[in-house]
Amino acid sequence: MKKIDRKILLNPGPATTTLSVKEAMLVEDICPREKDFGKVLDTIKEDLVKVVHGEGSHICALFAASGTGGLEAAITSAVPKGKKLLVVDNGAYGSRMVKLAETFGIDVVRYQIPYGDYPDVAVIKNLIGSNSEISHLAVVHHETTTGMLNPVQEICDVAHAANIEVIVDCMSSYAGIPIDIKKWNAEYLVSSSNKCIQGMPGMVFVIFKESLLEKIKETKRSFYFDIYSQYTGFEKTGQMQFTPPVQVAYALRQAIDEYFTEGEQGRWKRYLGNYETLYTGLSELGFKFLLSDEQQSKILLAIKEPSHPNYNFDAMHDYLYERGFTIYPGKGAKEATFRLSILGDLHKEDITSFLKCLKGYLESNKIFG
Ligand SMILES: Cc1ncc(COP(=O)(O)O)c(C=O)c1O
Repeated sequence: MKKIDRKILLNPGPATTTLSVKEAMLVEDICPREKDFGKVLDTIKEDLVKVVHGEGSHICALFAASGTGGLEAAITSAVPKGKKLLVVDNGAYGSRMVKLAETFGIDVVRYQIPYGDYPDVAVIKNLIGSNSEISHLAVVHHETTTGMLNPVQEICDVAHAANIEVIVDCMSSYAGIPIDIKKWNAEYLVSSSNKCIQGMPGMVFVIFKESLLEKIKETKRSFYFDIYSQYTGFEKTGQMQFTPPVQVAYALRQAIDEYFTEGEQGRWKRYLGNYETLYTGLSELGFKFLLSDEQQSKILLAIKEPSHPNYNFDAMHDYLYERGFTIYPGKGAKEATFRLSILGDLHKEDITSFLKCLKGYLESNKIFG
């Protein structure tokens, strides 16, 4: 097999994957309408629900798309005509859900605060109280723009008290941060194959309450991203409606197996360890962070850009990239930042060798010292 160098991706997915996940894509050619392939998809759907402990209450619809496709499926399938969607918007991904809903003519009530501010549940409660047409609320669990972990449990509780269903974007938290979907009682959860589950990009999934299936039958706004027809179609035929990314599905199957081998707590412990190594190392180098510690997801750090005249993100990126490390720019946070994420198949030695390389860059450019 072709030799592949291992790269350390510190962008928040698509992530560094294991060699075994990459190798899982090297399979015999198979028509995705064959029963053998249908069985693979069936186990994937079942296991994706298990990751968030949704057995018995939640089911899963798979789509061939990036993460945004799953959000499109959840929002356009769930919100009935004539009703409103309340969106908690404290980052680029909250803002994206607003744009997405508006593209489909869905009325949005927007709770908009600067990227990096913490949502105030009392304000959300007031918005709900003054808009009786809100039927759904959408919130990002881990807002990848800033690294903020939004208070999903409290938001779900407030929404459910008013009979509002909740759509949670768990793109960059699912299979990293332990989630109990029954505890949240969330109606819809969306994530994709290429973040903390550590598979390849190309598949997205909506995990939703089985009891809602009949209710969303008539909501259909999108032909491709309709949860009802995608889910029931698969139940009848064992096939996805439209061509699935076959090799990506095999990689996802392998990634799920590796998730269960590592275990929910094992993965979280590894991620936490990597986060702490990164946080401590960056602090020692003189960097400051956008968020306070208690707001951090511990999956991603938004780091304040140094004001030093020799600092230049692109030059720093290129220096590190040439040495096998990928870093990520900021995305409109309330202060200028760049971002580093520890999601993916990363280990302590990867983080320490990154910190060493970054120190070399800072020293050679006389930044901080
Ligand atoms: C929280 C969140 N939501 C949505 C998305 C969009 O996913 P994609 O770019 O795969 O469509 C991302 C991507 O990073 C994300 O982090």
